[in-house]
Amino acid sequence: MTVPKGLKILLLGSALVVSLAYFKAPRWDRPAPASSISAPALQAPANGTTSDQPIAFTHKAHIEAEMECLACHEFADKAVQATIPGVESCMTCHSAIKTESPEIIKLAQYAERGEEVPWRRVYKFKADAHVYFTHKRHIKAEVSCTTCHGEMEKAATAQLNVNHSMGWCLDCHRTSETKFKPPSRALDCMTCHN
Ligand code: HEC
Ligand code: HEC
Ligand code: HEC
Ligand code: HEC
Ligand code: HEC
Repeated sequence: MTVPKGLKILLLGSALVVSLAYFKAPRWDRPAPASSISAPALQAPANGTTSDQPIAFTHKAHIEAEMECLACHEFADKAVQATIPGVESCMTCHSAIKTESPEIIKLAQYAERGEEVPWRRVYKFKADAHVYFTHKRHIKAEVSCTTCHGEMEKAATAQLNVNHSMGWCLDCHRTSETKFKPPSRALDCMTCHN
């Protein structure tokens, strides 16, 4: 989308002021609970889209074992970040399940060293776009994980299935305007760039 020049300057100007405040009290940097890894702690992918990960994790096998998305991404309905389970929560099962698998041996070695698995981020806004996004509001509004991340139940490691562009956010906000209070919040720049 094209943004009027005046607005752009206004926005970038206020983004600068806001960014100073947000580095002091960043709400997306709230310390994650000890059992999970907060998104900023995840490593950036080498090329922005790679699914190369330190362990050949498989979403499919866990969904087939009847685990829910929220069993692992347990803050998606409660907080800004969905979060990724820490290695200790993986080991609650894998100290007994598939212990002979080379991938689980690697996992156990991270746990023994007291290190988290350095998962690479798949979805991440550039810091200079100053986007504010929250999982909680979308899950409460019953937007499905699939709408925003594709069919993860069939995936091994996560892939960049959906392009989270501004136009894509706006398309949905425009059609669900009545769910916002007031409805003008749906398209207000400050809703996503505060
Ligand atoms: C409305 C779209 C939307 C929905 C619905 C959504 N996500 Fe996300 N998700 C995103 C965006 C956007 C990011 C990147 C956020 C960023 O860079 O700050 C993200 C990032 C993530 C991350 C990595 C960073 C983090 O927040 O910890 C995980 C894991 C994740 N989503 C899982 C889920 C799961 C599981 C669900 C369903 C319960 C879900 N998401 C629903 C848009 C969505
Ligand atoms: C509730 C129990 C449970 C938890 C928690 C769990 N897993 Fe699993 N995991 C399984 C099951 C069941 C399988 C499938 C085993 C099979 O194929 O027989 C599996 C398979 C795997 C495999 C494939 C192993 C192979 O060689 O086939 C990997 C890798 C893996 N898990 C990693 C993880 C990681 C990393 C975590 C933490 C983020 C985790 N698991 C958390 C139960 C669990
Ligand atoms: C057994 C735990 C487990 C379950 C269950 C699980 N995930 Fe994940 N998820 C992970 C791990 C570990 C990663 C990091 C590795 C990767 O990127 O694949 C991850 C990564 C992701 C990412 C990429 C986050 C980013 O930006 O890097 C998304 C999106 C995601 N999961 C969505 C889902 C959805 C949707 C479901 C349910 C269909 C689900 N997950 C079920 C453990 C799990
Ligand atoms: C498929 C539909 C859909 C998509 C895609 C979507 N949203 Fe939303 N968004 C909603 C709905 C519905 C609400 C809920 C409004 C409420 O609960 O008040 C919402 C609420 C929000 C809120 C909270 C609004 C407030 O009043 O504080 C923010 C922030 C937000 N979205 C940002 C984003 C961003 C950024 C993206 C793109 C990365 C995005 N959304 C993509 C449907 C969507
Ligand atoms: C529903 C959420 C949403 C609303 C409302 C929104 N934006 Fe955005 N905007 C985004 C997202 C998400 C990105 C980042 C897209 C990407 O990384 O590809 C973005 C990116 C931008 C960028 C580019 C920043 C960069 O450096 O890449 C500008 C400029 C911008 N928005 C201005 C605006 C203006 C002005 C408004 C009000 C007219 C507005 N936005 C309203 C979600 C939103």
